[in-house]
Amino acid sequence: MGVEVAVQGLTKSFGKQVIWGDVTLTLPPGEISVMLGPSGTGKSVFLKTLVGLLKPDRGSIVIKDVDLARCSEHQLYETRKLFGVLFQDGALFGSMNLFDNIAFPLREHTRKSESEIRQIVNEKLEMVGLTGTEKKLPGEISGGMRKRAGLARALVLDPEIILFDEPDSGLDPVRVAYLNQLIVDLNAQTDSTFLIVTHDIGTARTVPDNLGLLFRRELVMFGTREVLLTSDEAVVEQFLNGRREGPIGMSEEKDASQVAAELAALGDRGGVSAPAPGTGPKGASGTGVPPQLLPSPGLPERKAAGRRQDRVLAMLHTLPEKAQEAVKRALDDEHRSRLPDYRSPESQSPDSQAPGSHSAGSEAAEYESVAE
Ligand SMILES: Nc1ncnc2c1ncn2[C@@H]1O[C@H](COP(=O)(O)OP(=O)(O)OP(=O)(O)O)[C@@H](O)[C@H]1O
Ligand SMILES: [Mg+2]
Repeated sequence: MGVEVAVQGLTKSFGKQVIWGDVTLTLPPGEISVMLGPSGTGKSVFLKTLVGLLKPDRGSIVIKDVDLARCSEHQLYETRKLFGVLFQDGALFGSMNLFDNIAFPLREHTRKSESEIRQIVNEKLEMVGLTGTEKKLPGEISGGMRKRAGLARALVLDPEIILFDEPDSGLDPVRVAYLNQLIVDLNAQTDSTFLIVTHDIGTARTVPDNLGLLFRRELVMFGTREVLLTSDEAVVEQFLNGRREGPIGMSEEKDASQVAAELAALGDRGGVSAPAPGTGPKGASGTGVPPQLLPSPGLPERKAAGRRQDRVLAMLHTLPEKAQEAVKRALDDEHRSRLPDYRSPESQSPDSQAPGSHSAGSEAAEYESVAE
């Protein structure tokens, strides 16, 4: 069962350079969260701080009642065992073959026999599609294969918290699709808490329960996927639609007048495919809020899915209207019946459905029509 990670007022700097300040968010247990942000905004630094490799200047990271920002070395060592981490560069040992690389955490942290280790390593190799490559050195395989070996190593201790730093970079689109399915399937099987850093908008839109965005030394937003995907906030919109126009520039942040001019120009062109924030019909949901990726057939439902619906339903009235609508559309029948304005199907004529009463099957069809 995944555990909650509660981050409060976290600030990190290197010398005089503040990377980000006052970051507050909670990774709900067993849910999948994605962290977005332009290059260099400190996403990797954030993951390294969460796992206790970097010390924050201020703030707390509480996991199972232990604050990683001020606990003892021993507590830190013990809490780290909860984590499985894929670092951005893979961080494989160059002189060890893949088998020994993946077996390393087991040999380091457990007393398992070599035959048990072999069984686990083979299972993880198969899971990431690397069976038969265990004797190869990291330098002898492709970048994508190294990434997948790093994934296998991150999973070998059956972690309760999984941090993946750009697991999809360097993978071809088909493998990204497989990887996303693997993440959802793993989550269904383990109920672990996931935080994934990615630049892939498709992944960000369809995989997570929650999305966050780091920009200009702060956490601009963190919340349920429906909130960010329907947001009118300029940075969020720009990022989730992968557009040039907006506050995020190539090398340095654009100034406000340049942003205003670009947005005005967009408006002049009609802005149909890229509406200016606040003026477009769908905000960051320019292509709608797509249905979330489900576990593969035959796997159990994600335990977090039900818990998440309870959680989101409890705060539904606090969400912006567009997000509320998106949440309602995605609810299952049981949760939908708890909506204050719910009307049972019997009490409705066929063509007078309440806004929140679409069947799960119609959700995809509706997305298709919104996406046009
Ligand atoms: N150990 C360190 N010492 C000093 N500065 C560092 C250190 N690690 C990272 N930084 C700086 O922190 C900033 C954020 O780096 P980080 O790698 O977290 O960015 P990122 O958001 O992961 O970017 P990308 O999307 O390109 O991976 C950069 O300016 C980087 O130079
Ligand atoms: Mg990074």
